[in-house]
Amino acid sequence: MQRNEGRRNRQEERSRAGRIRPGAVLLLLLAGFSMLVFAYLFHVQMHRKIGPKQPIPFSHRLHAGVKAINCRFCHPFVARSARAGIPAVAKCLYCHNYIIRNHPWIQEEHRYYETGEPVPWKRLFIVGDHVQFRHQPHILLKGFDCSECHGAVETMDRLPHHEFKMGFCIDCHRKNDAPVSCWLTCHN
Ligand code: HEC
Ligand code: HEC
Ligand code: HEC
Ligand code: HEC
Repeated sequence: MQRNEGRRNRQEERSRAGRIRPGAVLLLLLAGFSMLVFAYLFHVQMHRKIGPKQPIPFSHRLHAGVKAINCRFCHPFVARSARAGIPAVAKCLYCHNYIIRNHPWIQEEHRYYETGEPVPWKRLFIVGDHVQFRHQPHILLKGFDCSECHGAVETMDRLPHHEFKMGFCIDCHRKNDAPVSCWLTCHN
């Protein structure tokens, strides 16, 4: 009797193990799904490259991406000078006197405008002190796209902090037969 029962129990156990339990399937699906979500969020995060907080949460993704405002409307000196220039708040108000004018961040823009205090934007793209970089020859003479050096800015809400390495400059100069011999004399 007892031996028979033992055998039956073992048989039941075996058949239970062989069956696919719906709970387990659900768990697997859930694990797979959350992995997908995680991968997606990670991708978005990397893509947008969250940088330091700025005094006004200005988004390049919204302005240069979704609204397709030209880079040079806000950075007008890029083809004729060393520096591209950061727009004064008056330029923001050119639109924002009409668009979402009561938004709290636009009120903050008005405060800067009225006090004449420049917006303390954090500097993000940096070259070493001893390196001389000018936008003009790269943009005007060679027509390089902004993304060659700054990445896909129009996809980023907050731009990253980035320090250029000398190797990055030299690699591109070699590829384009641009001066590398003058490298030392260019530092001054
Ligand atoms: C509506 C105005 C506007 C447009 C359009 C715009 N920018 Fe900007 N840009 C700004 C402002 C304001 C800042 C400073 C705040 C910040 O860093 O987000 C800035 C900062 C930057 C910086 C970082 C500067 C630093 O501190 O080193 C880069 C690089 C840049 N913009 C490139 C671009 C490129 C490339 C485009 C086009 C794809 C573009 N911008 C379009 C307003 C604009
Ligand atoms: C050419 C027009 C134009 C200029 C110039 C412009 N913006 Fe905008 N901005 C827009 C539009 C369009 C929107 C989207 C408004 C909406 O949500 O309906 C917007 C939205 C915003 C928002 C709200 C974003 C949010 O999350 O709700 C902020 C903040 C902002 N802009 C800041 C700035 C700053 C700072 C500048 C100057 C450096 C600037 N804008 C220059 C057109 C402009
Ligand atoms: C060949 C590389 C290169 C290209 C192409 C390039 N930049 Fe730059 N950009 C730099 C470097 C390097 C700096 C940092 C310069 C410094 O710290 O003196 C910089 C700084 C900036 C700044 C911040 C300070 C200032 O006023 O210059 C802005 C804004 C900017 N770039 C916008 C642009 C835009 C817009 C374009 C495309 C029209 C562009 N850049 C194309 C290399 C580049
Ligand atoms: C996308 C390719 C590319 C990158 C990246 C690049 N350069 Fe250049 N650079 C060039 C080319 C091509 C020229 C030659 C332009 C000409 O015909 O005068 C040049 C010219 C120069 C010159 C000489 C012209 C002048 O008087 O300013 C200097 C200095 C210079 N680059 C510095 C830099 C520095 C510093 C960096 C890195 C922060 C850099 N470049 C990144 C392609 C590049």
